[in-house]
Amino acid sequence: MTTPEQTLPERCRGLCARLGVRTPLLNAPMTGAAGPELAAAVSAAGGLGVLAGAFCTPDELAAGIGRVRERTSAPFAVGLRVPCRGSGESLARARKNARALEDLALELGLEASYAWGAVPDEKTFAEQLEVVLESEVPVLVVSFGGLREIYAEKLEARGVAVLGAATTLREAKVQRAAGAAAVIVQGVEAGGPRLNFEQPDTLSQTGLLSLIGPAARATGLPVIAAGGIATGAQWAASLVAGASGVMAGTAFLRTEESAAPAAHKAQLAYATDASTRLVRTFEGRLARVIVNGLVEALEQAQIAPGDYPEQCAVMRPILEAAGRAGRGDLMELAAGQGAAMAASGPAGAVVERLQRELQAALGASVFFARE
Ligand SMILES: Cc1cc2nc3c(=O)[nH]c(=O)nc-3n(C[C@H](O)[C@H](O)[C@H](O)COP(=O)(O)O)c2cc1C
Repeated sequence: MTTPEQTLPERCRGLCARLGVRTPLLNAPMTGAAGPELAAAVSAAGGLGVLAGAFCTPDELAAGIGRVRERTSAPFAVGLRVPCRGSGESLARARKNARALEDLALELGLEASYAWGAVPDEKTFAEQLEVVLESEVPVLVVSFGGLREIYAEKLEARGVAVLGAATTLREAKVQRAAGAAAVIVQGVEAGGPRLNFEQPDTLSQTGLLSLIGPAARATGLPVIAAGGIATGAQWAASLVAGASGVMAGTAFLRTEESAAPAAHKAQLAYATDASTRLVRTFEGRLARVIVNGLVEALEQAQIAPGDYPEQCAVMRPILEAAGRAGRGDLMELAAGQGAAMAASGPAGAVVERLQRELQAALGASVFFARE
């Protein structure tokens, strides 16, 4: 019997072979949602599970990798954020946000002068990479920049495939120059933070279908499409446009294995196509979220957010406390434009449904019959 994967074009099968997976589908490295359970479930179902490692200490990362391995022997990836430098001017704005949030911090049981959260810096990033190498993780997803040569060479020597995220053609070319084995193109439809690093986020808001083909042509690398993909038909459309695989975040957010807080999952159940908006409140860089009370309160008070990473550092303790307290009005309800299509149930069932829908869409596609 022909499996859906056998009907895919050669370039998709090439990507699967490089990643060691049966199907060219990855879950996104979603902070707060893509823990070991989700990564393991997606890998066990034949895709490439991605463990969000950016905010993990080296010990937590090693433990998380161990927990994935307890659940599956299939390949998986770790997602990290390339560190970015802040500015003095942004620090002043972030401090203003921290002062404005003092009462809220007390309400959540934090000290008014609470310690800002840790956002991965150069030292943490180097330590996280050591864990990836020591643990022999086969695939690394990098966001917010390309890898420096010293890291890229080490990873290449150990056979680690690097998947580099880009939001523009210029960034896709930077990822190629930095040694990426494939480029993840993030369309503006995507949930969570914009992953731009070369151009300001106001100039990095291209739609997914306008990015895929040009990025594949400009880099000659396999392209993994991300942003708003929640059905197999959208997966098929990305492949027809020139992608070799897809990455889905929001489509897995409500699943049993997703570590997203219940209040976040509940909001997704009522989402529509128009529920999300790009805001700077949480990350200090644009992020697509379902707007809640905290965003509205800060916007109405005209308190301008700092930049990344300072604003992110200010918000992290609030977000973690809001998660523990189940306060959906204070969480970063990150979600993409496909939020209304995110289904509950096991992540493996989501993978299976997407594959069935992909197969149905491909069956109707002359493009695939010819290639
Ligand atoms: C809840 C959530 C958290 C995210 N956190 C991160 C992150 O920490 N690092 C990162 O590179 N991308 C992050 N993203 C963005 C994803 O990498 C990816 O671009 C996005 O999920 C794709 O769009 P989709 O959610 O519409 O499928 C996050 C996305 C979501 C929804």
